[in-house]
Amino acid sequence: MSPDAKVALITGAGHGIGRATAKLLARRGWLVGVNDLKEEFVTEACGEIGANAFPVVQNVASREGINAAVDAVMARAGRLDGLVNNAAWVRYQAIPDIAPETVDRMVQIGFNGVIWGIQAAAAAMNAERGGTIVNVASAAGFRSAPHSLVYSGIKAGVMGMTRAAAVELGRGNIRVNAVAPSAIPTEGTSRHRSAERDAKRIADTPLGRLGTVDDIARAIAYLMESDSDFVTGQVLSADGGIGIAIN
Ligand SMILES: NC(=O)c1ccc[n+]([C@@H]2O[C@H](COP(=O)([O-])OP(=O)(O)OC[C@H]3O[C@@H](n4cnc5c(N)ncnc54)[C@H](O)[C@@H]3O)[C@@H](O)[C@H]2O)c1
Repeated sequence: MSPDAKVALITGAGHGIGRATAKLLARRGWLVGVNDLKEEFVTEACGEIGANAFPVVQNVASREGINAAVDAVMARAGRLDGLVNNAAWVRYQAIPDIAPETVDRMVQIGFNGVIWGIQAAAAAMNAERGGTIVNVASAAGFRSAPHSLVYSGIKAGVMGMTRAAAVELGRGNIRVNAVAPSAIPTEGTSRHRSAERDAKRIADTPLGRLGTVDDIARAIAYLMESDSDFVTGQVLSADGGIGIAIN
């Protein structure tokens, strides 16, 4: 591990898109703090990623939680160059069935967690070296299916926060961008998928396939790394073109 290696914290990296992103950045030489709620998730992910990963077990749904996660990265690595605000907890409910506890839990991690993540990372990043923050939004922030009132609202909010943070933090040499994936098979989405829905999505997608966690990891890595040095405040759709197609 080079002493100059960049250091990232990826929230919710025990599974899915977060884990794939942690793996890719580690392969590209980053030292990666792998965050998740449970030790077993983090241990398994770190085992798969190898030497460039270290565990950050923490619930990042609160300001205290994300502050503690960033503190753990600073204690382990002495610097923070990148944050991926990826963790989410998602439920889809018809409007009459939306329950306050579901809204609270989704908002705490998916919306408030992004605010506190940006705040904590901006405080920890070094102005001379700069930093990058990538928020994981969703195609659902642009368009909606039924039962997505809360999720679509949160993800549209994340896109707004991305622009607001980019404007405020640019002079501090911190870039803030977002990715907006379409439906990607992961542990988190398995309950909402069916062969029929997948077939419809594939038919509606110009590139003719479902995306993978690695597709999204590459889009995030582009925004995290110097290839995107003059890009900030943007939402990059990684969706095989489904968002620009008329179906
Ligand atoms: N998979 C998709 O189809 C898709 C599409 C668009 C956007 N997204 C977004 O991508 C991100 C990752 O989704 P995924 O499908 O990989 O999810 P996933 O459920 O497979 O993984 C999410 C991880 O976040 C962790 N997590 C949840 N709450 C946490 C908390 N409070 N603190 C720490 N960790 C926590 C979970 O334990 C889990 O390991 C989410 O923001 C999601 O909204 C996913």
